Amino acid sequence: FPVSVVLPAGGTGERTGLQTPKQFCTFLGRPLISYTIQAFESIPWIQSIVVAVAKENMDLMTDIIQRFKHRKVRAVPGGSTRHRSICNGVLALGEEERPAVGRPKVVIIHDAVRPFVEEDFLYKIAMAAKEQGAAGAIRPLVSTVIATTSEGYLDHSLERAKYRASEMPQGFTYDVISQAYQRCSESDFEFGTECLHLALQYCGTNAKLIEGPPTLWKVTYKRDLAAAESIIKETLS
Ligand code: C5P
Repeated sequence: FPVSVVLPAGGTGERTGLQTPKQFCTFLGRPLISYTIQAFESIPWIQSIVVAVAKENMDLMTDIIQRFKHRKVRAVPGGSTRHRSICNGVLALGEEERPAVGRPKVVIIHDAVRPFVEEDFLYKIAMAAKEQGAAGAIRPLVSTVIATTSEGYLDHSLERAKYRASEMPQGFTYDVISQAYQRCSESDFEFGTECLHLALQYCGTNAKLIEGPPTLWKVTYKRDLAAAESIIKETLS
């Protein structure tokens, strides 16, 4: 069944405190996003990849696509929030112009800043998405989650064993994810972070959750860049 990928890469990387958004930071001569693209492009059952990037980085992205010969990739403008970037990517999949590439049955959504994703886990997500309509990666929590009062005191804490961190990749049938974005509200676009939640709320599709490997970790802070670099060096040497 045809599987396509949306990589939201429209962020400006504020939390790293660097000028360059983290997805465009270079390791061994190649930007981080190119490693993530490569992880998907090398999988034969993935037909196409759409990358959503901020307008100011569009030329840079076009250059990366050409320089590293990413043949399955197309860049589209990102949006002001992560949901808007993903939505633009999903819409672009519905407007595919290449005749050899049909509308996908399943869409995998993955952050551009999680380059170490592996084929066997992507396959689990794609299969579960095809069967259930939606699927997502989860990981055990590393810290306990607490709610605070507006004055900065403890309100309540959650029982850690009961909760999981929602990670990427997530997978959806094209019908579920495109309908979820058509039906959701402006405030979902502005404040929401969870695609799985939109699928449940607007399509009644409850996601299958699958525990993923630690390598799904997201490059978020400056220190993560050093860790990413050493993994890239290790896996390439
Ligand atoms: O900020 P955070 O690390 O959660 O971002 C996760 C992913 O969402 C990144 O790949 C980032 O580029 C993307 N994003 C986006 N459009 C935005 C904000 C973030 O595609 N407006």
